[in-house]
Amino acid sequence: MAMPLIHIENIVKKFGPFIALNGVSLDVRAGEVHALLGDNGAGKSTLIKVLAGVHQPTSGKIFIEGKEMHFRSPRDASDAGIGTVYQDLAINPLMSVTRNFFMGRELKGPFGTLRMDEMNQIAHDEMLKIGIDFSDPTQAVGTMSGGQRQTLAIARAIYFGAKVLILDEPTSALGQKQQMGVLKTMMRVRARGDIAIIFITHNEIHSQLVADRFTFLALGEVIGSGSKDDLEHDEIRRLMAGGVDIGDLAKEIDQVMAEASV
Ligand SMILES: Nc1ncnc2c1ncn2[C@@H]1O[C@H](COP(=O)(O)OP(=O)(O)O)[C@@H](O)[C@H]1O
Ligand SMILES: [Mg+2]
Repeated sequence: MAMPLIHIENIVKKFGPFIALNGVSLDVRAGEVHALLGDNGAGKSTLIKVLAGVHQPTSGKIFIEGKEMHFRSPRDASDAGIGTVYQDLAINPLMSVTRNFFMGRELKGPFGTLRMDEMNQIAHDEMLKIGIDFSDPTQAVGTMSGGQRQTLAIARAIYFGAKVLILDEPTSALGQKQQMGVLKTMMRVRARGDIAIIFITHNEIHSQLVADRFTFLALGEVIGSGSKDDLEHDEIRRLMAGGVDIGDLAKEIDQVMAEASV
């Protein structure tokens, strides 16, 4: 089997005495969506910040295409092909779609003039490839829907060289229809076959719709992992709940209700 595009081995991250990540490992192959699930405080964001060069791990290793990486800054991670789309998207709604697409990486001609026509064309074409035909990228981002903004942030990350695309709760702030739009965008990126996607979500249904593999974190540790084919629905629900069996929990709740109504 082909080597994983990204291999994360035994990552530990301590904040002072507090252990936020305690030996987390996972692999993601090109053309695969790996869902990273877990309750609040599980360590999902910390793991992503380690991958994105924001935090340095206390110990553990990160390999990209088999080569060990040492990220000392977000710039290092980005240069190595880690593209992170955070929840706030780093998008300015007052600026045009194109200006947001190229923010800080504008194409310039002689004397520093902006090559606007070319940038408009690229922004349009790159978004179209993964699902939105936003005909006029000179418009302000404020005219785009939340789902379209996610697509803009994803298209931008890919255009600027992301091989590992990390999406932090990309569907959580959106309405139903827009959520489906973002999932479709993810499937188009997956279909390219050359990008590994790490999908952080609280939404069990979304993860089951698009993910090939799952890793469940609780209190900084991997409590379960597996491929779509070897995880039963009930098992996914149990792991989503941090390892709590929903049936057992329901019994306990019934008992509390019975006691309370005496
Ligand atoms: N910079 C930090 N300093 C101290 N503790 C932190 C820091 N960042 C995160 N933590 C702690 O690490 C744990 C995991 O947090 P986080 O990675 O944000 O979880 P998640 O994204 O899964 O909700 C939490 O208990 C959180 O309070
Ligand atoms: Mg988080």
